[in-house]
Amino acid sequence: MSLYVKQTELRACINSFLLDNKTIGFVPTMGALHQGHLSLMQESLKNNDFTVVSIFVNPTQFNNPNDLKKYPRTIESDLEKINALNSDIIVYAPNVEDIYGEKTVSKSFDYDGLEFQMEGKHRPGHFDGVGTIVKKLFEIVNPNNAYFGEKDFQQLAIVKKLVKKNKIPVNIVGCTIHREVNGLAMSSRNERLSADERTKAALIYKTLTEAKKLFGTKTASEVTNWVTKTFKKQSIFELEYFEIADEETLLTCKRKSKTKNYRAFIAVFVNNLRLIDNISLK
Ligand code: PAF
Repeated sequence: MSLYVKQTELRACINSFLLDNKTIGFVPTMGALHQGHLSLMQESLKNNDFTVVSIFVNPTQFNNPNDLKKYPRTIESDLEKINALNSDIIVYAPNVEDIYGEKTVSKSFDYDGLEFQMEGKHRPGHFDGVGTIVKKLFEIVNPNNAYFGEKDFQQLAIVKKLVKKNKIPVNIVGCTIHREVNGLAMSSRNERLSADERTKAALIYKTLTEAKKLFGTKTASEVTNWVTKTFKKQSIFELEYFEIADEETLLTCKRKSKTKNYRAFIAVFVNNLRLIDNISLK
């Protein structure tokens, strides 16, 4: 594995691949790597000549300073995991200055309304921060393919929109959610759950799979009411939102249409930790 902390040095390495017409796969991460991240890297290794992984906890996408402070930072073990997976992977792990220079601020983006739904409503400025860092990283890495997990389905839709609207020449590949044995979606934040919370958090995916079954015969609002009641009964959970939305526009489903694909989205606090998940209702 080769590690770069300065974009100028990474660029010099990448320019040599471009001269040789090699393809570059890119996996942007904020570290605290788990099996979900490693599977994105495997997908990239399979389909590209070179794979670049970035590890950068991006301050501008955190609307809550405490969340940024507590975000797990595990660079040593991240590098070990990457090296064990494949020693040819190129890692870019910059500091804030290398990315933002003197002003750590985000730009403002228009994602045709995708940014006003779900995460956008509850995390003001979050998708401006995501757009800012992803665009910067694409400019530095210049990848042919970039890999994003479907756990952050709204982020994936937003990145696709960003690329389309800004005519960035990269193919965005969405990859399925990796789950723990009990169904809990893998997330770097899971590291902050106690053993008991981790066991109990299985309720999130269990509820999503049940909601999917119910959606066969019930309306979106009936399913939403059922999910709300289910979480009210459990004191360690606080449901922030549950929404059934059109996969393309992310607009809430008011009346089912046979021509649309729907997905259920959820954000729940387990004690003080916020987790998100989603499931296709197809
Ligand atoms: O999904 C993440 O880990 C982050 O939002 C990303 C895409 C690496 C941007 O900071």
